[in-house]
Amino acid sequence: MNNSNDSFPLPQRLPTRSNYLKVKENLAPISTGALLYLRGGVTHTRDDTDVEVDFRQESNFFYLSGIEKAGYHILVALAIDKIFLIPPTVSPDEQLWKGIPDSFTELLKKYDADFVLTEKQLPQFIADIDPRVIFTLDTTDVSAIPKEYHGKLDKSRLRMAINEARLIKLPWEISILRYSARISSHAHMSLMSLVGSKNKSLYNEAELEANFRWTCARNGLARQCYIPIIASGPRAAVLHYTDNDRLIPDKSPHTLILVDAGGEYKCYGSDITRTFPLHGKFTEEAKTIYNIVLKAQNAVLKLIGPGVLWRDMHNLVVRVLCYELVRIGILVGHAYELMKLGVYRAFYFHGTGHSVGLDCHDVGGSGIGILTHQIRKGRKGVTLDLNRALEKDMVVTVEPGLYFNDVSIDIWTKNPAYARYFNMEKINQYRVIGGVRIEDTILITDDGHENFTIAPKEVHDIEALMKH
Ligand code: GLY
Ligand code: MN
Ligand code: MN
Repeated sequence: MNNSNDSFPLPQRLPTRSNYLKVKENLAPISTGALLYLRGGVTHTRDDTDVEVDFRQESNFFYLSGIEKAGYHILVALAIDKIFLIPPTVSPDEQLWKGIPDSFTELLKKYDADFVLTEKQLPQFIADIDPRVIFTLDTTDVSAIPKEYHGKLDKSRLRMAINEARLIKLPWEISILRYSARISSHAHMSLMSLVGSKNKSLYNEAELEANFRWTCARNGLARQCYIPIIASGPRAAVLHYTDNDRLIPDKSPHTLILVDAGGEYKCYGSDITRTFPLHGKFTEEAKTIYNIVLKAQNAVLKLIGPGVLWRDMHNLVVRVLCYELVRIGILVGHAYELMKLGVYRAFYFHGTGHSVGLDCHDVGGSGIGILTHQIRKGRKGVTLDLNRALEKDMVVTVEPGLYFNDVSIDIWTKNPAYARYFNMEKINQYRVIGGVRIEDTILITDDGHENFTIAPKEVHDIEALMKH
């Protein structure tokens, strides 16, 4: 498809200075002579070869610089708001392989910065400023900072200042995020339409992934926000299945394909899931489970907006799922009691959503973020914290699901403490569908939300799209 209705309005030079100004505000109070230093990502090679692995800029560096290429640094003199870019040194020999680097004039045209320094000039430049503090991240390579200034590095305050800034999106960031989600929605639609086409031969998951990437790339989204999940049949019940290497089982009329994929544009991503029937028509079992998940998502979308607690949205999903699973006979007992016991977790074992931005699971804010990334004991972990009220201009996902995952079903139904709450006959009737997730990326607005995701999700709309 061509994005005739989704043309992208922004100029190429992103106004990243506006991001820096938000970060600076969050860093206050700042002593005079303070610097901010970040080094972007560098390229790596595969194992012990000279073959480069795919490069994607580190998100915090992109947030402040708008640079998607490897090897750059940024230095900011906070008192005077002057931003210095430092491009990598590229020898003539390297230029034979990688091309001629941008001139300084070109760099200042492309990026929202004031000056360019060479890597050679950087140490003396810092020495001349003689800074009292240099804000940086605990993950930043600071080897380009002269040793005598390492004592001035403050590695503790910048992360939260950036996280807080990144959580609330500026209008130009919102435009890009909207564009990413709309194009990704078109890619989902194209995929449904392709699978529905009558002249298909056997499909494997990999070619569906390629088709999704193709639609994205054709509209400028050359990169995916995360590895696409193209999960057919029982794999739809594996939350982060990314092998995408199986032939799609075509014997069963129940076979569903769960596609959790979103492209990114200028590093700003999207996170969208659609689940659709291989044969173009949902079976009764598939439709029943699908509509329960859709009902849970619609319940959230009806209420979500500024001031709403994420925890309440999650509980709302759980309530809908419990009542419905009792209604169709999979769970046995009183829905309210089952909620308290947590037995729904046999079929719903993830959170209801998260912030989206430069990362799929984007950063949250101070202590009470929707989702905060923490570096713990050298390992990057993700902590859910559900106590922060949503605010205007946050971008989040709403992604309920129901999964018939053999491991999870065994854990719960074989536990003597819980076995009586499950009807195995019903579970076996429905487990043939694998799993369903419906995930939209939305913007929190003054009076509710704007749904960036435009791929259909009603059963009849999906079936209609797949008929063409
Ligand atoms: N695509 C990963 C997630 O939905 O969180
Ligand atoms: Mn998600
Ligand atoms: Mn997702």
